[in-house]
Amino acid sequence: MIHLHDVKKHYRQGENSVLACEVSDLRIGRGEQVALVGRSGTGKTTLLHLLAGILRADAGTVEIAGQRIDAMTEPQRDRFRGQHIGMVYQTFNLLQPFTALENVLLGALFGRGAGHDAEARAKSLLERVGLADRMHHRPSELSVGQVQRVAICRALVNDPEVILMDEPLGNQDKATGAQVLDLLLQLAREGNKTVVMVTHDPESAQRMQRTVDLATLRRSAS
Ligand SMILES: Nc1ncnc2c1ncn2[C@@H]1O[C@H](COP(=O)(O)OP(=O)(O)OP(=O)(O)O)[C@@H](O)[C@H]1O
Ligand SMILES: [Mg+2]
Repeated sequence: MIHLHDVKKHYRQGENSVLACEVSDLRIGRGEQVALVGRSGTGKTTLLHLLAGILRADAGTVEIAGQRIDAMTEPQRDRFRGQHIGMVYQTFNLLQPFTALENVLLGALFGRGAGHDAEARAKSLLERVGLADRMHHRPSELSVGQVQRVAICRALVNDPEVILMDEPLGNQDKATGAQVLDLLLQLAREGNKTVVMVTHDPESAQRMQRTVDLATLRRSAS
């Protein structure tokens, strides 16, 4: 489902360029649930953004669902993301003027999930993460953990084949985090979805089928 080969991503910084992410070879099968771990600054967010097509690799190949997204233009990658990928950003990226429900519905608007049942799906997801009575609140009127759960619902509303999550449970208390992870894994199993979740929490990592440490993906490490 996912195959990266000899991938490199640099960030330019004035005269210098920083190697932010390097992956010699990584394969993740359809329906596999993977925890992505590694110390701060090792390139986890950069890798998720490469998988989502938000960033483009400087070198190497990135194949998802049989398509080479490294060879696509930006509009093609945007369309691909809308159709195949649900992303939970480390910084959530909710739109401030809109309510929780509207933010989730915006996820459907840009993807394949637009249609008459989008609102029902959005509401049902918000209910399942414990936000039934917060649907009409704006992000500024929600707690950080609640905003994070809205971002998770937005990623799921299109029923994507690939779910990418950047520390999606980092602001949840233990019980809520476990409950949201239960929901995620249940939806993933039901729909045979591929999940890549960045986490610093060993307990969450253990619930996934496999753990990938970014430090072991570099060419020099293999
Ligand atoms: N826009 C940027 N310009 C220059 N360097 C960057 C930029 N974004 C990230 N970096 C650098 O690239 C490296 C990888 O960053 P990235 O955000 O992918 O790390 P991370 O593993 O997600 O870290 P964390 O666990 O703290 O979220 C870091 O060393 C960072 O300083
Ligand atoms: Mg990060």
